[in-house]
Amino acid sequence: MRDRVHALAPGEEAQGVSMLAMGSITFRHVGPDGWREWRRLRLSALAEAADAFESRLSDWQDQPEGRWRDRLASVPLNLVADLDGSSVGMVSGAHLDAPGAVELLSLWVAPEARGKGIANGLIGAVIDWAVDQGAGQLRLAVRAANAPAVALYRRNGFEHAGPRRGRPGSPPECEMVLDLTAPPAPGAGWEQPQGQR
Ligand SMILES: CC(C)(COP(=O)(O)OP(=O)(O)OC[C@H]1O[C@@H](n2cnc3c(N)ncnc32)[C@H](O)[C@@H]1OP(=O)(O)O)[C@@H](O)C(=O)NCCC(=O)NCCS
Repeated sequence: MRDRVHALAPGEEAQGVSMLAMGSITFRHVGPDGWREWRRLRLSALAEAADAFESRLSDWQDQPEGRWRDRLASVPLNLVADLDGSSVGMVSGAHLDAPGAVELLSLWVAPEARGKGIANGLIGAVIDWAVDQGAGQLRLAVRAANAPAVALYRRNGFEHAGPRRGRPGSPPECEMVLDLTAPPAPGAGWEQPQGQR
């Protein structure tokens, strides 16, 4: 079972980031001042894995600095993963209108860094953040045909919660939910938190 990743402290900002080490992989919390790096990673993700996301490269590639800053300011958790000093992955965590529910979004790991557990670590960090927010559910949307991502989420304890209506004409998406109030299934990557941290 993967070690539980400790929650980040976004208040510890240094040039828009705070840091946490997990073995050789480092996670950084990126704020609005990190917009250039976030833009580079996000545009790489939308170009490389166009079928995995509802957003399209054309939605974002010409957006001005202010749009990127707004995105990073309005979404409370934005993490970048570094491997050997290079940024190779990203994920976000957002609040939802539904009470007690938060959402995982924008998960991407660069092809050259895949298969090293970086996505597992990023998901674990979002789970920790969700628990710290007092959320009872962590939700996400994934393309139904994205078998590697669906399998990854299932291994981290998420369960299918039905179809989700996406953009008109876009491929079918399904919603997956992790119940943060239930004990983890055997073999799931997340350990039940031991009380309030
Ligand atoms: C899905 C993705 C995030 C996985 O990233 P990763 O860092 O390679 O994943 P990890 O190394 O943490 O692997 C986690 C598990 O998934 C498995 N896995 C990862 N990619 C896989 C693939 N392409 N095919 C099969 N299994 C895969 C790993 O073997 C590992 O299994 P384990 O937990 O039993 O050891 C990455 O492939 C990606 O960015 N894909 C494109 C974008 C995308 O689909 N994002 C999700 C949008 S909802």
